[in-house]
Amino acid sequence: MRTHHCNELRAENQGETVTLTGWVNSSRDHGGVIFIDLRDREGLTQCVFRPEESSESAKASHSLRAEDVVEVTGRVEPRPEIDGNSTVNPELPTGDIEVAATALTIVNKAKVLPFQLDKELSNEDLRLSHRFLDLRRPRMNQNLRIRHRVTKAARDYLDSHGFIEVETPILSKSTPEGARDFLVPSRMHPGSFYALPQAPQQYKQLLMVAGVERYFQVARCFRDEDLRADRQPEFTQVDVEGSFTDQEEIIELMEGCLSAMFKAGRDADIPTPFERMTWHDAMNQFGSDKPDRRFGIQIEDLSDLFADSGFKVFSGAVKNGGVVKAINAKGFSGITTGQVDKLTEIAVNHGAKGLAYIQVRGEDPSTWRSPITKFFNEEELLGLKDKLNVEEGDLVLFAADQWESACEILGRIRLECASMQSLLQGREGEFDFLWITEFPLLAYDEESGNWSAVHHPFTRPVDGDQEQLQQGNYSNLRAQAYDVVLNGHELGGGSIRIHEKELQSAMFTALGISEEQAANEFGHILEAFEFGAPPHGGIALGLDRIVMLIAGEESIREVIAFPKNNKGCDLMSASPAPAEPVQLRDLRIKTTVPDPEPEA
Ligand code: AMO
Ligand code: AMP
Repeated sequence: MRTHHCNELRAENQGETVTLTGWVNSSRDHGGVIFIDLRDREGLTQCVFRPEESSESAKASHSLRAEDVVEVTGRVEPRPEIDGNSTVNPELPTGDIEVAATALTIVNKAKVLPFQLDKELSNEDLRLSHRFLDLRRPRMNQNLRIRHRVTKAARDYLDSHGFIEVETPILSKSTPEGARDFLVPSRMHPGSFYALPQAPQQYKQLLMVAGVERYFQVARCFRDEDLRADRQPEFTQVDVEGSFTDQEEIIELMEGCLSAMFKAGRDADIPTPFERMTWHDAMNQFGSDKPDRRFGIQIEDLSDLFADSGFKVFSGAVKNGGVVKAINAKGFSGITTGQVDKLTEIAVNHGAKGLAYIQVRGEDPSTWRSPITKFFNEEELLGLKDKLNVEEGDLVLFAADQWESACEILGRIRLECASMQSLLQGREGEFDFLWITEFPLLAYDEESGNWSAVHHPFTRPVDGDQEQLQQGNYSNLRAQAYDVVLNGHELGGGSIRIHEKELQSAMFTALGISEEQAANEFGHILEAFEFGAPPHGGIALGLDRIVMLIAGEESIREVIAFPKNNKGCDLMSASPAPAEPVQLRDLRIKTTVPDPEPEA
């Protein structure tokens, strides 16, 4: 048993005989004297092998290579002065001392690693294929520890507020959260499948019917969707539900929980309450339901100004019930042609018909560079200047479209301009927490002609809108739903739920789910609502995203021990993989009743 870890010994331990275990971080040969930096998860300690201390150990130490596992016993000594120069290393907490080794056990040798641990590696797939080595890097070790502390803080906080952790099934039934399900074939019921939960949504609501009153779970969720830096096919939620509660209570509870998590993870004091913004304002001003407000560039409405414009693209949009909106990217008139093309491509990919712009080269509009200002009259030019506070050096970008599309397009362009202008550099430590409230309940899809749930089908309309839902008037219904946003990331979302069978059935009808289908897929929850279901509501926080932001990382893969790569593969274990013939035999879809299995 070792007596100390590698970040423990200090000058006051001088003279003690100690045993350290760990990995050889590096080794140096100084004229027959071998120095190794021994590493464990806590840090580094220098060990010196001198022939006069133990000739056997000193000899053995010559064979040490990076990442060998060793046990070293020796005496703690102050680092000596050599030729009048101190050998103390002030960079290292253990830098005042070294261990003069008297015994060495080589516990296990390491092959040459596929990559160096002390160098940043841009090839993420290589890192992931040997994740067990990648996780040895101090930064990754630190991230795992932050995650542990943050998760524990959430558990402790919720426990202290009367919430109890209840586990819900992984082999379960489809819960619609807007992504595709992962399916698991059942051996005992050939042709039938379990779905992995996209969230414990229905189970937590059933726990409320069961009288649990205050539930939480650090819950694994599975969603088959396209992956991004902040999206994994399996991820973790801090999932919360309470009975006899309301939006205000959940918001306050979560502000406390997030503060506790940020305190535990990076000793940050997060001021509460967080600001709030309605979904409409967020879209209208920032073109996103998860606005990053750390930089300005707000979206302005110019519809009135251009309603009768000679520029038909603009006046036409307004006549079609749409809007003309614009942003002013201050100081970005020097945008390159390549950057204009990139922005235009982004706009077009998000449904824009074009991206009109003005490079403001001087005070006088005659100096402006733009494909469209020639169509503007004096009043339009002045109005534009006034409304957007246009000054020399600015770049104005326009979207003329239906309201939501125009907002979304400029929302994307706004983010890209900020990135091109490096507006967020060095501002990762600024935390702009924000609640988005008053989401729409339903969204209409022009293509399919269907309504879909903006949050999920169990979300409650605001009190005044419930009759509208039951009467089949689906436009402009508002939901008792709320998202918590940080620096442009959606950290969590939740809602007050429907707890009455009739209202839930009306919601299914709105979503085009037939009575028969509702009975098949959601019969259990509809039935539960008939046995005394309490009013309830909750939220789920995305733990991976929270830890990512706390750790200052740009991808949730950096805070997940064994993540999938951006193609959904675990490169280390090579999954997904074709199933073995034996497994397939068990899964063969049989049309007849399976052979009776002997009872266990
Ligand atoms: P929602 O779908 O908004 O709500 O999910 C809650 C939070 O989970 C995180 N999240 C993800 N994190 C990583 N990878 C993903 N693929 C991923 N998808 C979502 C986000 C998100 O805000 N049942 C509801 C909650 C409720 O109503 O109580 C739900 O799952 O941070
Ligand atoms: P056009 O009249 O199609 O040559 O367009 C003139 C300019 O307006 C070009 O820079 C287009 O990219 C831009 N544009 C076209 N349609 C729109 C639109 N709906 N919103 C914003 N800009 C547009």
